Amino acid sequence: MNDIPHDLLGAIDRLRKERNAVILAHYYQDDDIQDIADFIGDSLQLAKAAQTTQADVILFCGVHFMAETAKILNPDRVVIVPDLTAGCSLADACPAPLLQRMKDKHPGARVVSYINCSAAVKAISDVICTSSNAERVVRSIPASDEIIFAPDKNLGAYVSKQTGRAMHLWPGTCIVHETFSERKLIELLSKHPLAHVIAHPECELHILAYAHFIGSTSALLDYTRRSDAPAFIVATESGILHQMKKVAPTKTLIPLPGMDENCACNECPHMRKNTLEKMYLALRDLQPRIEMDEGLRQRALVPLQRMMALG
Ligand code: 13P
Ligand code: SF4
Repeated sequence: MNDIPHDLLGAIDRLRKERNAVILAHYYQDDDIQDIADFIGDSLQLAKAAQTTQADVILFCGVHFMAETAKILNPDRVVIVPDLTAGCSLADACPAPLLQRMKDKHPGARVVSYINCSAAVKAISDVICTSSNAERVVRSIPASDEIIFAPDKNLGAYVSKQTGRAMHLWPGTCIVHETFSERKLIELLSKHPLAHVIAHPECELHILAYAHFIGSTSALLDYTRRSDAPAFIVATESGILHQMKKVAPTKTLIPLPGMDENCACNECPHMRKNTLEKMYLALRDLQPRIEMDEGLRQRALVPLQRMMALG
């Protein structure tokens, strides 16, 4: 119906040049999308890449909040996505009016929001964080201030443990990271006693308790490159294994499965909506586009800039 060319990779490459477009992709994208991207990264690295690009068009292969962040940082560039419906369970779990109600109950509290949230939530937050800098962001808030942490209660609980700061946690979770099975983790550890468990902080605390290393996607990738361990049990979305195989080709990489034997629950159903076909169509039609009310954009920019200023 849409005249998809046979040589999809060639067609994407041609259009990318014609449009002066940059293709940004998150580590959770399918392998073929990662391979054709100009830049692959975690959410902080992607936000920084979006901030510094000189391209006229940003094709963002990730989920909606990531592309929205690129637009907040780049009002004058065209930001397109392969699939506008690629959302995030964390962003969906935290509508701005409900977060506002929580703020009203705790007047004076500082709101730290994980970047996995809508522009409307960013706009009523004091500062944004990602999984790479959440601890640093929380530590930057004066000890006398109350903190509301939204929308990921697992990341919030982890940061609270690391920093010793009590926080009011919004009850959101990631549908991928809450699914990991402790029973399977124990089984895998008994089969691979020398393996290191590496986990994203969106996992529940009882999974994190087994981890030799906890970090953002890029930090986990870096750990597989520099650690001496012969094997890694990977407790995050399995898309990251594509780059891990490249940086640690001699290591055994074991994706931790979810609790349901019959589902690929360690794949994010939102991230995996993006395809090469949809990338081609987005570059051809410059649609779907991220558009935003300018007032909202300016309000959402302030807490993002505070995060960027923290380094
Ligand atoms: P990163 O900050 O590690 O990219 O995590 C983003 C995300 O959505 C994890 O589920
Ligand atoms: Fe959201 Fe989880 Fe998917 Fe990341 S993996 S985009 S947090 S649903």
